[in-house]
Amino acid sequence: MNASMSLPVWSDDLLLDDERTDATHREFMQLLRSSFMATESNRLQRFQKLLEHTVEHFAQEDRWMIATGMEDDNCHSKDHTMILETMREVEKRALAGDTSFITVMNQALAQWFPEHAKTKDAGLTQYLKEVGFSTTDEVLANPETAQLNAHGGCGTQKACT
Ligand SMILES: [Fe+2]
Ligand SMILES: [Fe+2]
Repeated sequence: MNASMSLPVWSDDLLLDDERTDATHREFMQLLRSSFMATESNRLQRFQKLLEHTVEHFAQEDRWMIATGMEDDNCHSKDHTMILETMREVEKRALAGDTSFITVMNQALAQWFPEHAKTKDAGLTQYLKEVGFSTTDEVLANPETAQLNAHGGCGTQKACT
């Protein structure tokens, strides 16, 4: 790590008033921070922990979108797919012996995540509340409302800014 890179830190302005989302996002930030602070000997291992968690994190949100009537190729899920594909490519190169991309990827994630959380994830959690979807037990209270609000492809407008 060089001096121009600042460590990612959790900030309460990332809170989205959804317990499960907020817990997952805190864990993401901790794992990203841990990956930032890695040494050469544990760089790949820490990045893989972050990747593993991110797979679950995105799968959870994608599952909630499908459960509330959104198309599986909506813009939010596409964002997840793009990030995961890039992370997997970085892992592949590290497994082949070049871990330098991990540092670049971590920096990119530190920039990308707050923006994503404040737009797409914020839009999603707001939408889930509107249609009465509980992220605790993953039950949808108002299926009719969800169908009306899903707008075919991208969920709420706010979810796709
Ligand atoms: Fe998220
Ligand atoms: Fe997301």
